[in-house]
Parts: sequence; C-alpha cells; structure tokens
Amino acid sequence: MKHYERDNIQRMTGYTWGEQPGRADVIKLNTNENPYPPSPAVADALAGIDTRLLRRYPPPLANDFRNQAASLHGVERDWLIATNGGDELLRLLVTTFMEPGTPLATTAPSYSLYPVLAAVQGCATVEVPLGPGFSLPEDLASRANAAGAGLTCVVNPHAPTGTLFPLAELERLAAALNGLLLIDEAYVDFVDPEGGHDAVSLVRRHPNVVLLRTLSKGYALAGLRFGYGIAQPHIIAPMLEKTRDSYNLDLIAQVLATAAISDQAWTRANAERVRSQRQRLREGLVALGFEVPPSQANFLFARVPADRDALKLKTSLQTSGILVRHFPTTGLDDRLRISIGSEEENRVLLLKLREWLE
Ligand SMILES: Cc1ncc(COP(=O)(O)O)c(C=O)c1O
Repeated sequence: MKHYERDNIQRMTGYTWGEQPGRADVIKLNTNENPYPPSPAVADALAGIDTRLLRRYPPPLANDFRNQAASLHGVERDWLIATNGGDELLRLLVTTFMEPGTPLATTAPSYSLYPVLAAVQGCATVEVPLGPGFSLPEDLASRANAAGAGLTCVVNPHAPTGTLFPLAELERLAAALNGLLLIDEAYVDFVDPEGGHDAVSLVRRHPNVVLLRTLSKGYALAGLRFGYGIAQPHIIAPMLEKTRDSYNLDLIAQVLATAAISDQAWTRANAERVRSQRQRLREGLVALGFEVPPSQANFLFARVPADRDALKLKTSLQTSGILVRHFPTTGLDDRLRISIGSEEENRVLLLKLREWLE
C-alpha cells in the first residue's frame, strides 16, 4: 500500500516506553518514578484552581514558573525555557539546532529517546561506548566533531548506569565540541549534596551548554509532564520564540509546577529518603550476590549473580507483580535497572529475589 509518511519516518522505529500497568498493587520499579508523593503544596494549588480560568489560553511563556526556577538557579529568566516534560526540550533542541542529515552524538548506552528524535529529524545517531567503569568516553568530542554532530547528549547522572560524571570532564567536553552539548540532568536531584555538584556554572562559562531538568523524578510529578532547560539566551530564545508549540504548557500544569518548585524543602527531604533507600537496597542486592555499581540516581544497575539469567529474573519478578527494566543489548543483558522504591517495596523486592535465587 502507498505510504504517506516521509521516508525516514517510515523506516524508523518509535520509542518503546516502560510498561504502565493500570493496577495499583504492582510494585513498579521500571521507569524511575519517585516512590514518594509530591509536595502537599501541589494538592493545595490544584484545589485552588478556578476552573473558569480554563476558558482562556494559559500564559504562553509560563513566566511564573520561569521566574521561580530562574531564581532557584541564580540565572535571569531569559536563560530558562519551560517545556512539556524534559522530552519536549529534547525535541526542541533537535528541531531547532540540528540540520537534517547531520548526526546526533551520545554515549552507548544512553536514553533511548535520543535516536528516535534524531531519526524524526532525518538525522543518524553516533553512539560512543562508555569508558571503563561506565566513565565518560574520552573520544566522545573527537568522534562527535569528526561526524559533524550538531548536538551531543550526555545523561548525568548517567542512565542506565547511575554514574555521575565529574563537572571538570563535562567542561572539557563542552570546550572541545564544535556543536551543542546537552547535559541531561533528569536525575540530578538525587545526587549526594555533599559533592556540591552544580552544572549551572558550566552554562555560564560555555555558550554551547544546555541543561535539561525535569519535575518527573525529583519532584515526583511524572504524570504532570513538566521540565525545563537552562542555557544562555541565544540558545533559549529561538526555542521560546520560534519552534515551541504556541501554548506548550497547560494552565493546570503551570500552576502545579510552580507550587512544586517553590517547595524546595519538600524536594530535598524526598531526595534524602530516596538516597537512604538507595543505599539500603544496594546493600541488600550486594548481600544477595549482585554486582551493583554506586549510583547517584534513583535507580540501580545491578548485574545478576554469575550463572543467573537477568531476563528470566525480570520475567519471574513480573509474575510476582514487580516490574523492573531489562535491556536486551549485548554487554548489558546480564543486568537489571531497578528504580528505588519505598522501604516496603524494596523489602518485598529483596524477599522475592532471595526466593528466586534459592
Ligand atoms: C535520561 C532521561 N532524560 C529525560 C527524561 C525525560 O523526562 P520527562 O520527559 O518525564 O521530563 C527521562 C525520563 O525518563 C530520562 O530518563
């Protein structure tokens, strides 16, 4: 039959999202959602919304949210764009800054949406394998430049491994790249605060650096679809003024996101709970014979004990009502990515794992 979509759309494969079961009794550790609820300020803001306002279009630039987020990060408002999830920022970067036919560069493994968005734009993806111990590949800049990449995407803390790349390495990468560097900080809210990790300083020093932030993980609002980007105004302005949808963020989302980001105390306490569960779950997994690299995100990337099959384990857990993520990629297929659950969820997980291993 005749096809109507563009050739590259016909050839490409779409994004595979994690399973979203309708049932509440499933222990869902497969898509790195937050096990704890969002700030009560979000519920209050929702209760306070006057639905009569919904007959009007929402504020086009989400300026209340941008003001709040800009003051949080110590930047001017024109350094910040609010987007429909971090995913919309990725789409905007690809459509605004990548010439069709030029590649996107990233690490292997990485966030599986990057190649999908590149393919939509008619762009290939150059994937550079991580270095030893899941480190940032030393040849990422040279390979990206050699391929003529307009955009290089690095997840930090890295997904699915949980490694935090040092800012000094990202700074060297930014300086060496000919194109833009997106530092995807979807999981940055879970980084140990003692290290003082703050990539906003890189944005100030490098005109080609963009940070991605999301309210989906640290703020426990994956269902809201709200994220933002931080970069110098010459990067933000074309997305804000030209390539963004006319009203990309609905009024309810704007009001709730503004309430959430205004309650930093809640978010910090929430992240602290996740970090403490992360440590306990890691210890539990290691005690069962899993090899688990340290993680600075809200998930662990655990290698199953020798002579055990990770895919079979994933399937067995699924039968017991526990969802985790398995990547059928060579070199990674002996691991499971396990989101940090609540104390009770992690307890049940460890119990099932012990049973399975016995
Ligand atoms: C690495 C990474 N970047 C970005 C996102 C986008 O998140 P959202 O669109 O929910 O803000 C995700 C979501 O899982 C992610 O894992």
